Amino acid sequence: MASDKHKLSLEREVGLLGAVSFIAGTMIGSGIFISPQYVLSVIGSPGASLIVWGCCGMLAILGGLCYAELGTVIPESGAEYVYTLRTTGKVTAFLFVFSFVNVMRPASATGIALSVAEYVVAPFFSDCTPPQLLVKCIAAGCILAVAIVNSLSVRTATHIQVVCTVIKVLALIVIALGGCVMLFQGKTGSVNSFEGTNVDVNSIGIAFYQGLWSYDGWNTLNFLTEELKHPEVNLPRALIIAISLVTGLYLLVNVSYLTVMTPKELMVSNAVAVTWGNKVLGSWGWIMSVAAALSAFGSLNGTFFSGGRVCFVAAREGHMPDILAMAHVHRLTPSPALIFTTFVSLLVLIPGDFQSIVNYFSFTAWFFYAITLSGLVYLKIKKPDLHRPYKVPIILPIIVIIAAVFLVLAPIVDSPQIEYLYVALFIFSGIIVYIPFIHYKVCPGLLTKLTVFLQLFLEVAPLTAYRP
Ligand code: ARG
Repeated sequence: MASDKHKLSLEREVGLLGAVSFIAGTMIGSGIFISPQYVLSVIGSPGASLIVWGCCGMLAILGGLCYAELGTVIPESGAEYVYTLRTTGKVTAFLFVFSFVNVMRPASATGIALSVAEYVVAPFFSDCTPPQLLVKCIAAGCILAVAIVNSLSVRTATHIQVVCTVIKVLALIVIALGGCVMLFQGKTGSVNSFEGTNVDVNSIGIAFYQGLWSYDGWNTLNFLTEELKHPEVNLPRALIIAISLVTGLYLLVNVSYLTVMTPKELMVSNAVAVTWGNKVLGSWGWIMSVAAALSAFGSLNGTFFSGGRVCFVAAREGHMPDILAMAHVHRLTPSPALIFTTFVSLLVLIPGDFQSIVNYFSFTAWFFYAITLSGLVYLKIKKPDLHRPYKVPIILPIIVIIAAVFLVLAPIVDSPQIEYLYVALFIFSGIIVYIPFIHYKVCPGLLTKLTVFLQLFLEVAPLTAYRP
């Protein structure tokens, strides 16, 4: 007992408001300020694009409800990693964490950081494209700033999240209200036109990838279940409140874009919110640029906050080097895991480009959502007696799995691109690391010296499970 007192644990610091902000704050980021024109140009008509946005919201809500059950049945941090570990087994969990730390999380952080940078420089380069080097340097600066804050204090990171969420929700409300005013004045724009809709499988798949990028992050809270106060109540509540709020806002905002701009104007705009701002707010249009940058910054913060947690949980299970499971002895922040994520993110930033990042990210993410939800179906069938503080009907995960399988297969089957094969190969190449180092534990002492050195250098120590 006495030794337990000296062990460190992450604290349960996140309440309902913080929880809702973490989900909404990560979901609302770069996407709603950039993706609408891509969804529209891929799917071809305003009416169909609104349907895509609605269906993406529906998918996020259904996914969120399923994750509410998963998170209360398996009340551990780490989302997909922990759920696959406890249901489909160690190999899938390792493949998840391998793709997650090496591709998904750094890629999403980099994508978001790039869009913060685009919006920061936009007002200074209104007539020309800003230099890529400048954009990338600013993006790198953002990644470092967020990493430092998250390493210094959980509380400050939470506060930043709350402030950014308030700003971005306000910005979206302004856009939504602007649209409503136009509608009341009788200007419906092209909202209800279905002319030119593309119904081929590939277009639908890619339009969903773009839309779903804006909704991604609905699972953020499940990464930090162990830091949530009363997770059995707050997890389902926060998921339902946050995802419905975001879906409603996104729909209204899209209607507003379409009432204020013609489809053509929307498609040629680089930053749709800024074009909207210039048209509706006149000389105050620049405010939208600031709001969009802050919005993406908050999303980056949320991405980092949860990203570090996965390394920590996986290291605790022996799927990652021990050092990544340690926390700072005074601040209790998992700084080694955060530093690792930062490092990989900066590497991805060098060749990274926003569009492809979104498509490959969504492909990988939905592949793992399908596996995770199969785990939920498995639990429901094989272990019906488990204590379930929150339950969903089995049909929900089945619907989301079918949608996920479609999303993963659509772009491959319809117009195969070699890049998706590379992504798939990368995911499965995790097995090459798993068999010798994790399963057979070849060279167990390989990292010991480095771990001890880093422990002293970073002042970190192992964490226990969690404080109840
Ligand atoms: N929805 C966010 C955006 O629009 C992207 C979220 C990326 N995924 C994540 N888990 N952080 O920018």
